[in-house]
Amino acid sequence: MKRQIVIAGNWKMHKTNSEAMQLANQIRIKTMDITKTRIIICPPFTALAPVFEIIGDSKIHLGAQNMFWEKEGAYTGEISAGMVKSTGADYVIIGHSERRQYFGETDETVNKKIKAALENGLKPIVCVGETLDEREAQITLKVVGKQIRGAFDGISAEQMSKIIIAYEPVWAIGTGKTATPEQAQEVHGEIRKLIAELYDAQVAEKLIIQYGGSVKPANAESLLSQQDIDGALVGGACLKADSFSEIIHIAEKLQ
Ligand code: PGA
Repeated sequence: MKRQIVIAGNWKMHKTNSEAMQLANQIRIKTMDITKTRIIICPPFTALAPVFEIIGDSKIHLGAQNMFWEKEGAYTGEISAGMVKSTGADYVIIGHSERRQYFGETDETVNKKIKAALENGLKPIVCVGETLDEREAQITLKVVGKQIRGAFDGISAEQMSKIIIAYEPVWAIGTGKTATPEQAQEVHGEIRKLIAELYDAQVAEKLIIQYGGSVKPANAESLLSQQDIDGALVGGACLKADSFSEIIHIAEKLQ
């Protein structure tokens, strides 16, 4: 049986508060008919609370794009899991490749953030993926495997049930180049196998594994039809209510 499809929108560093509220409202209206697909929107920190007001009693979930692992203290500019939770968010993206690339995040910091998120009742969307050089050197599975082992070190099977993995090949993010459904499926299948090894078959079977990297209405169906692709983490195409809602409607039809 197909797992529930989860479509998340990563707004990245886009939208002032008024723009964010407008976009959230358009998404809310355009997805009112959705009953099966889980929808998560991840605006910037500044817009979390106002967007939460807008999505109010709809089924749309709110997520942050990052957080710091400490509870509180002298960490100028950082935001704790508890603070994120207090906005109404129940998800948080952790270890996005842009955070790894520009802000020095490592498997170790990703692991600390996952633990802090879970302790505060946030569900992590944990991003993994290889660079173009790594794909060309045919070490994709090795790289992704290392990221996964590092990220989930010390995470229990019970905690794993609250986690989503997003496989995002770095070379496909924001480039318009999508992994082919077969390329993505191959890695998703291997991720599920690895989770079965690290935990058990049941945990692996239930795990939601999203694909991310230039997902748009034109390629959503072929990607989401793959056996081990359970959703999408959408960047560019989530900044317009039309294209984001189109992807969600494609997902809805597949369930
Ligand atoms: P993209 O971004 O859809 O713009 O490629 C995806 C992501 O970075 O999560």
